[in-house]
This record gives sequence, structure tokens and C-alpha cells, in this order.
Amino acid sequence: SDYWVVVPAAGVGKRMGADRPKQYLPLLGRPLLSLTLRNILSWPGLAGVVVALSEDDAYFSHLPEAKHPLVHRVVGGVERADSVLATLNYLATREAGETTVLVHDAARPCVALADIEALLRADPVALLALPASDTVKLAAPSAASGGGEPEPRLYVEQTLDRNSIWLAQTPQRAPLGLLHSCLRRALEQGAPVTDEASALELFGHAPQLVPGRGDNLKITHPSDILLAETILRLRYA
Ligand code: C5P
Repeated sequence: SDYWVVVPAAGVGKRMGADRPKQYLPLLGRPLLSLTLRNILSWPGLAGVVVALSEDDAYFSHLPEAKHPLVHRVVGGVERADSVLATLNYLATREAGETTVLVHDAARPCVALADIEALLRADPVALLALPASDTVKLAAPSAASGGGEPEPRLYVEQTLDRNSIWLAQTPQRAPLGLLHSCLRRALEQGAPVTDEASALELFGHAPQLVPGRGDNLKITHPSDILLAETILRLRYA
């Protein structure tokens, strides 16, 4: 039941507005990617990790995890999905198509081992996800707006049925061969692929939703850092 983990970490973190890519911002004094890799390296049954990094990454080689024998690195791509594809191209040359792959964002350092175990017990195609707790609105710009405003005014087009809304997290799992071909074909078609599940869905492979928890947050905005530090402090205390 060995599996590989793929970590896209080639982004620049535009929304963070920091002086360095967000995967290297310090949390509790350690770079985010270092914490995420340390977490992954503690998961039982791990066969290896492939990290996708930007071509001019100047930070990775300084992380203690960079020298770990299970950690491999590849050069990522323009979008997150291109970075994931680069890791799968690498894995496909050395592992069988049935190999289980978990794709996990560098920006999610807090995922709990119990959730990883639940995902590993789930269907071969599955993802961690959170049932929506807020009421969810579908937004549409009004026909009247658009004149000279920096951002168009948005209005509610529809309220979605909260009971059928789930927020996708990572890890997301699939067999290597299936994920590789679905992702490659989705990108060839120019489909929007913001997670692995969407590439699988496109070709009829409905992923199983595995209930995760809210503390598996994705570091996106500066305010996420304090929250993540609190979660990590409790977890590793
Ligand atoms: O920007 P966002 O939070 O959605 O990025 C999710 C993950 O994808 C991050 O870990 C980021 O480093 C990674 N990424 C990547 N290659 C890109 C863009 C984002 O590996 N070209």
C-alpha cells in the first residue's frame, strides 16, 4: 500500500504580497515548505515525495528536507496543473501506473495524519474536502456596472444548496497512470484545472469526497499565517 506524494511548490504567491514565494514564508520560524515536507515525511507507508519548484528557486536547497533520501525535485510549470504534470512525467518513468499518488499543496502544512489515513482507506480516486458551513452564493456582475469602476459590482445570482456544497482540499489521490493521462488531456483541451479532481471528473472519474477538517487550511492571505501557527503549535506541542 505504498504511495507517492506530489507537492506543487512552484508558485510565486501573488495574493500574499510578500518579499518571497509564499512556500518559503516563515511559520514558527520555519519555512512553510519545510513544515509541509516534515509533515509528509512522517506519514507511514510513504514511498517518496516529488516537489515541483520554479526554475530559479533559490531557497529549496537550504531546507533540511532537501537532503532527505525520499525527497525528489523537478522543475514546475506556469500554472499549478503544469507543475503537477511535471512531477507525474517524472514518476511515470520510474513507477507503475497503478501506483497511488497523493497530490498535496505546499501551502497546507496542517493536514492531520488521521485525514491522510482516511484518504488512504477511501476509493482509488478521492479527495479531502470540507462540507460548506457558510451559505454559498453564486455571483454575477450586474448588467448596469462596468463603467469606470476598478472592480465590477457583484450581485447574487442564486443561492446554492449548502448541503451539496463541498470545498476541495488536498491531498487528492488517484492512480499514477490515470491521473497522468487525465491531467495531460485536460490541459491539452485548455480546460480550467485548479485541482486534480477536476481533471479526473472531466473524463468521467467521479472522485469520492472524504470529509476533512477546517484546520487543513491553505495559506493564501497573510492572516492565514497566524491561524496556521496556532494549529501547528497545538499539533506539535
Ligand atoms: O496559488 P495557490 O495557493 O492556488 O497554489 C497552490 C499550490 O500550487 C502552491 O503550493 C503553489 O506553490 C503551487 N503552484 C505551483 N506552480 C505554479 C503555481 C502554483 O506549483 N505555477
